[in-house]
Amino acid sequence: MSSYDVIIIGSGPGGYVAAIRCAQLGLKTACVEGRETLGGTCLNIGCIPSKALLHASHMLHEAEHNFAEMGLKGKSPSVDWPQMQKYKQSTVDTNTKGIEFLFKKNKVDWLKGWGSVPEAGKVKVGDDIHETKHIIIATGSEPSALPGVEVDEKIVVTSTGALELGKVPKKMVVIGAGVIGLELGSVYKRLGAEVTVVEFLDTITPGMDAEISKQFKRMLSKQGLEFILGAAVQKTETNKSKAKVHYKLRKDDSEHVLEADVVLVATGRKPYVDGLGLDTLDMAMTDRGQIQVNDTWQTSVKGVYAVGDAIEGPMLAHKAEDEGMAVAEHIAGQHPHIDYNLIPSVIYTHPEVANVGATEEMLKKEGREYKVGKFSFMGNARAKANFSGDGFVKILADKKTDRILGCHIIGPSAGELIHEVCVAMEFGASAQDLAMTCHAHPTYSEAVREAALACGDGPIHM
Ligand code: FAD
Ligand code: NAI
Repeated sequence: MSSYDVIIIGSGPGGYVAAIRCAQLGLKTACVEGRETLGGTCLNIGCIPSKALLHASHMLHEAEHNFAEMGLKGKSPSVDWPQMQKYKQSTVDTNTKGIEFLFKKNKVDWLKGWGSVPEAGKVKVGDDIHETKHIIIATGSEPSALPGVEVDEKIVVTSTGALELGKVPKKMVVIGAGVIGLELGSVYKRLGAEVTVVEFLDTITPGMDAEISKQFKRMLSKQGLEFILGAAVQKTETNKSKAKVHYKLRKDDSEHVLEADVVLVATGRKPYVDGLGLDTLDMAMTDRGQIQVNDTWQTSVKGVYAVGDAIEGPMLAHKAEDEGMAVAEHIAGQHPHIDYNLIPSVIYTHPEVANVGATEEMLKKEGREYKVGKFSFMGNARAKANFSGDGFVKILADKKTDRILGCHIIGPSAGELIHEVCVAMEFGASAQDLAMTCHAHPTYSEAVREAALACGDGPIHM
């Protein structure tokens, strides 16, 4: 039996960041991980492999659609799927090994196996019981099940199966027009599949600023993705190589069937807390199956903390990382703080979609007086040169004080551009503060400045 200051269960972005930060702050730290490799969902079967496939398939799209126009002639590349899978895997391996290296560098012990918490102060891994002053649960999430839909990870798949299909399907049906459905649907569309997205609601990407969501759907439709909205999936049926998706249109209850080679079920994720022994600990949970924590990430059991997808809040890697870092600092006696209103979110399609802070719908609901500054990438020289003029930046600012309340971007590198607005909002900046900041020319960032100018006396290039 060994003893530690902190044992973290789970090595995803929440867990591994907490482990490294604890070690940096002088705490004797171990991290339990049952998977073969470190890094959790994000590095192994989430953010990283999906972004590798998004990148490769985007390159193909560029070659097919924009190369000739730039005077780059020749045959477009064809898809070598096994090689693309190898590229994806090597990206994953580099990253997961990187965490292993960081653990060694920071003297974090990796306790290999599945952990449970028999009582506060103890973590069981296999037959070994380890004593510890503090425990951090960072066990992440798993795909939610959909009644009537049986996942076999070959024909009916979750994101995990979708990342390693044997071949590019001819026809793919995606259930759920959320982040996973649209990112992976885009990948397979670009690689040549016919992709139909079936969504329960009447809009895609629920919760997103409605104007952006509408534009996003228009752009994805232009790229060839088909959408069936307001449709409740009833069940799927599979034979050896195909599936049928039965759905009902909510507006008239009419029943329809779609055929597909692969069905991707992307209707959300739920916390993964199986096997931890939380019942025995009588740990308080929310009615959505999340571990309840207070504002220092402490659960209802003293000395046991929880972070990441296993607790409330957006299921995002960077949110889990921030919590991992903050809980470590709290345990070490510091006073960390996370502003949950300033967690950006990004969809890595082309174009990217990014947002932070309030949507227009949220501000309306709050009855808040606000102004809107918008700027189209059509007025941005860099974007036009790069065939990326479709899309816009939208800044929402308080009508009286000009303080920035939210920003929504659909366009080139939106996932990078959003961060200057995050920093500005973190410092309580006004739209004018952004507008008065010199932005290099020609950059996409100028569109952010122009949107800020649009909150005041007006943009220059529109
Ligand atoms: P996880 O990353 O899920 O890690 C939990 C780890 O705990 C796992 O490795 C698991 O094996 C381990 N574990 C569980 N129980 C035990 C146990 N009892 N003992 C030992 N180990 C255990 N987010 C983004 O911000 N950007 C993206 O681009 C993005 N892309 C995504 C793409 C896909 C396809 C998916 C599925 C998710 C994506 N996400 C993305 C979400 C992101 O992956 C999660 O928000 C993030 O991984 C949550 O981190 P976590 O540390 O809470 O848990
Ligand atoms: P999601 O919550 O983003 O989207 C699920 C979609 O499915 C919603 O539009 C919902 O209305 C729809 N839906 C639910 N039930 C349905 C039904 N019966 N029939 C048809 N549609 C139905 O969930 P998703 O895409 O599975 O992603 C899970 C989590 O992973 C998200 O919370 C996201 O934060 C995270 N993620 C983040 C990424 C990023 O940051 N780029 C990338 C991928 C995942």
